[in-house]
Amino acid sequence: MLILAIESSCDDTAAAVLEDDRVLLSSVISSQFDVHARFGGIVPELASRRHIEAIWPVTAQALTEAGVELADIELIAATRGPGLVGSLLVGFTFAKTLALVRNIPCVDVDHMAGHLLSIRLEKEYPGFPYTALVVSGGNTSLFAVTDETTFEVLGRTRDDAAGEAFDKVAKLLGLGYPGGPAVSDMARHGDPEAFSFPRAWLDEESLDFSFSGLKTAVVNQVNRLRQQGQPLPVADICASFQEAVVEVLVEKAVRAARRTNSPALVLGGGVAANPRLRRLLGERCRREDIAFYAPSPVFCTDNAAMIGIAGYHRYLQGSVVTPDTDVYSRSPLN
Ligand code: KG4
Repeated sequence: MLILAIESSCDDTAAAVLEDDRVLLSSVISSQFDVHARFGGIVPELASRRHIEAIWPVTAQALTEAGVELADIELIAATRGPGLVGSLLVGFTFAKTLALVRNIPCVDVDHMAGHLLSIRLEKEYPGFPYTALVVSGGNTSLFAVTDETTFEVLGRTRDDAAGEAFDKVAKLLGLGYPGGPAVSDMARHGDPEAFSFPRAWLDEESLDFSFSGLKTAVVNQVNRLRQQGQPLPVADICASFQEAVVEVLVEKAVRAARRTNSPALVLGGGVAANPRLRRLLGERCRREDIAFYAPSPVFCTDNAAMIGIAGYHRYLQGSVVTPDTDVYSRSPLN
């Protein structure tokens, strides 16, 4: 079955063409960094306007790169939520309309389901069940994944998402947007033990996360140094902050896998592109005898290929949308 997948939940307009859930024929992503960079964060209204401009060219490019015509497409899958409502509306309405005009089915996909299954875009991926850690700009959650459509939340952030914390620290240090890659690049030259930032373990058994205290600790440290008129050791701050985030993510992910007797741990979401997280989680899993899988960085950040995989299985399950199906900003999976 030839699938066209559409993703527009945040600041990337993406389209992909897949044959069932395994053969990825094309994946096109148009990012909006140039639009939002000077604001130091995403401006929702500007994001939706740019999606409107980009949605058709991106889709046309995905069809061309796949070597297929719109008339060949048999199913359309689109992100319904969670995300910015104005952004979601562009992609989801586009998908529903295209399906209606072509008289083919359209399935709605939860963005989180896409991240949970994105490892299936790789040659090597685990069988079910597995534990998944999804860490992005909007979410930091642990899931038990039983099959392609069954996901149970084991823990979630109680305040900021890890990616959001990376972005805020980058902004504070004047490193630009998006902050994650800038902070992790800087961190490579810094000492992770230079500053002892807090790790929020929460209750002893908790699989939830909290990053707002860490963010405040970094702000306070930076303010103290600025008041003392000292030059900011930016690389050390980045490395110490990153270490505090990564240590908690690694510990809780392994705890979740142990608790659910999962043979495998899967990473997903934009922060999963972080080299330090991938390395430390991989090493820890090896010691704990848990198989570790991380998608290549291009499938960690937002993309439509993962939406196609999740959409295919949702379709097999019998779920299709009607023209009045609406988007949502918060995930029922979370
Ligand atoms: O999944 P994603 O593309 O978008 C959503 O939030 O849904 O994730 C984007 C987030 C941003 O917060 C970005 O700063 C973060 O992922 N990120 C990183 C890295 N690359 C992207 N965070 C830490 N280290 C990275 N290398």
